[in-house]
Amino acid sequence: MTVASYFDSMDYAPSTEDDSAARAWLASHDARFGHFIDGAFTKPAEGFDTSEPATGKALAQVSQGVAADVDAAFKAARRAQKGWAALPGYERALKLYALARIIQRNSRLIAVVEALDNGKSIRETRDIDIPLAARHFYHHAGWAQLQDSQFAGYDPVGVVGQVIPWNFPFLMLAWKLAPALALGNAVVLKPAEATPLTALLFAELAQAAGLPAGVLNIVTGDGETGALIAAHEGADKVAFTGSTEVGRRIREATAGQGKSLTLELGGKSPFIVCEDADIDAAVEGVVDAIWFNQGQVCCAGSRLLVQEGISDTFHARLAERMKTLRIGGSLDKTIDLSAVIDGAQRDRIAGMVDRAVAAGATLVQSGAVPATGSFYPPTLLRDVPATCEAATEEIFGPVAVSMTFRTPDEAVTLANHTRYGLAASIWSENINLALDLAAKVQAGIVWVNCTNVMDAGVGFGGVKESGFDREGGREGCYDYLKPRAFAKASERKAAAPVAAKGFSLDPVDRTAKFYIGGKQARPDGGNARPVVGAKGNVLGEVGEGNRKDIRNAVEAARGAKSWGSKTQHNRAQVLYYMGENLSARVDEFAERLTAQTGVKPDRARAEVMAAVSRLFSYGAWADKVEGTVHMPPMKGLALAVPEPIGVAGVICPEESPLLGFVSAVAPLIATGNRVVAVASEAHPLSATDFYQVLETSDLPGGVLNIVTGDTEPLARELAKHNDVDLLWAFTTPALSAEVERLSTGNLKRVFTDHGRAWDWTSAEAEGEVFIRQATQIKNIWVPYGE
Ligand code: NAI
Repeated sequence: MTVASYFDSMDYAPSTEDDSAARAWLASHDARFGHFIDGAFTKPAEGFDTSEPATGKALAQVSQGVAADVDAAFKAARRAQKGWAALPGYERALKLYALARIIQRNSRLIAVVEALDNGKSIRETRDIDIPLAARHFYHHAGWAQLQDSQFAGYDPVGVVGQVIPWNFPFLMLAWKLAPALALGNAVVLKPAEATPLTALLFAELAQAAGLPAGVLNIVTGDGETGALIAAHEGADKVAFTGSTEVGRRIREATAGQGKSLTLELGGKSPFIVCEDADIDAAVEGVVDAIWFNQGQVCCAGSRLLVQEGISDTFHARLAERMKTLRIGGSLDKTIDLSAVIDGAQRDRIAGMVDRAVAAGATLVQSGAVPATGSFYPPTLLRDVPATCEAATEEIFGPVAVSMTFRTPDEAVTLANHTRYGLAASIWSENINLALDLAAKVQAGIVWVNCTNVMDAGVGFGGVKESGFDREGGREGCYDYLKPRAFAKASERKAAAPVAAKGFSLDPVDRTAKFYIGGKQARPDGGNARPVVGAKGNVLGEVGEGNRKDIRNAVEAARGAKSWGSKTQHNRAQVLYYMGENLSARVDEFAERLTAQTGVKPDRARAEVMAAVSRLFSYGAWADKVEGTVHMPPMKGLALAVPEPIGVAGVICPEESPLLGFVSAVAPLIATGNRVVAVASEAHPLSATDFYQVLETSDLPGGVLNIVTGDTEPLARELAKHNDVDLLWAFTTPALSAEVERLSTGNLKRVFTDHGRAWDWTSAEAEGEVFIRQATQIKNIWVPYGE
């Protein structure tokens, strides 16, 4: 017998973690919990049991949060927030640091409570969840310390409602709380109904660490409690992690409430293995990608895409590796996989696997599962038909589906063939190929030759229906801040109804058309509307756009995709050129402004000059939108690369018809997006005159498309359109609310000032706030160094 075979045949006895401290903590509360509001636990009320997935036994009873609890929590948060935000940054930093330290000092207790309540293995809670949670508080203590210098011009959002899922109860709590608290916000947080215990334990620890009363409030309960929190008028912001379906409901519920929203939703992330990959490393990567936390990971590498030439070898080695995975109770330190969250989830997973097998997939499964508890074995489904639900939907269990590809281009097509865009893993020993694929996959996070690595300093979050905004790092901080300029703005009025004095008697038809695909285009319906000047006279006519015109414009914008891959230098030049061409027509544009709005000639000239300057500003920005190189605590770098979002719909403001229009479209163009703009309804002629500027500049057709007409129906059409990836709405409060509601179809990102008119001449109306809204960060993790 060789040493190797001896090790192979060796069996392990269970090595069980001691749970006495965790049980004693539960007993100290009589295993019954109220909510944690305003620095104290409320009396336990009617609620539900939370139990151990690995044994099915009840652990404790928690209270179901009702409207009165949620109200009380928001009131407490509101009372506490001002004082918390007013503390000097270093005092908040000290508290965050104290939270990090108290997590470390109690890490064993937290790790055991987490393993018991969630069913995940103690090895993972001890080595990953809890240390990473502490790291989040350390990292964000730093942002509190640096807030004044690094985020000058920004205020905390205020009071934040946070709803988190059950797959990483403590880690998600840390992800949500650390940035919110660090930057001066107060929080009402709801843990998932299946896993409330570590949040309650954290509340107790936070109290011991001296966090002021009311800054952190924990309300337990199910989805109904979550819905109360998301819709509560006391929340200035809602941050949610969970399923795409609930994310969509929250988007709807919060629409028009003037809240900012962060959604971290589901995924179906590709795990691409190229033929030149280190196969053994990639096999080990699959173990981390899909069997870590029983596959209940939003960024799990659940779709294996394997290049044909190595498919047999790769799958054979993977099947061998699967045989060595150990399944058992969550407190056994020797196991790889433990129980999934509950019986319902296990049955859901089993149902999806059975249906995939019935549809023709080949099943590879290994490992005996314990007879009691909600266990499901590690599973691989080979040759899954691409349309099968197992291949397209989030299974959220230890199930990988695998398919093959022939060429890297085909891998990209398969990888992007999903409504999600959270993460991707790429395995290749060829750095050129790996980085080429990294640039082409649609995902917020890309891991090159690694998977499921995360850090507090590196943004995390998705694109497409995986949600928007980032958590972690500098970019995550911005999502808990608001630009100070916003607060000063006044409410925007709707366009004045058209009341023309008589008809245009001009014998020449001066109807301005639309600008679509680089050409002037007639309205689909053939209708025009008069444009009434400041004196009530008709200045001309513009096309009356309809749904078909918007669709044509979106199609033209989609067709201009190559704008996003032009060099920044090239885009800068085009914007400078547009500025130059506008500067040659200052008098003409100024006269038009005066005629439309009645603004005095000198102010009209100033607006045109400001528009010229703004085009130059975005020309300047175009080649200065840079990423960051993060240095996370691993052997590698994470490259934070800003990317264009895609096709943007823009509802232009009524105020400052030229400057507002330019300010809204130029940042999007500068960053590589394509735009469909709905011009000011009352004063559209500055936008239609701009065609001349476009025609004499080198902007490729389809990059900027302009439609005129009644704003409301056009805005609705843009909001609903599933090929529009992003919507900027500088319109009335009511229409802002409506477009937010209508944007749920493809969960497009919406940037709106909620009807608070900007002063478009101010310095705050250009620059980084807009650039950030026009881009999304892709974090590419690359092994590097020693
Ligand atoms: P879920 O999305 O329903 O639950 C997440 C959180 O949202 C929980 O705290 C829940 O109480 C709360 N919630 C539910 N309905 C709500 C509402 N209308 N308004 C506000 N909050 C609400 O996820 P669930 O039901 O636990 O799992 C279902 C499936 O969702 C899973 O099988 C998985 O596919 C997916 N999921 C994905 C996660 C991810 O991170 N991508 C996390 C959790 C679940």
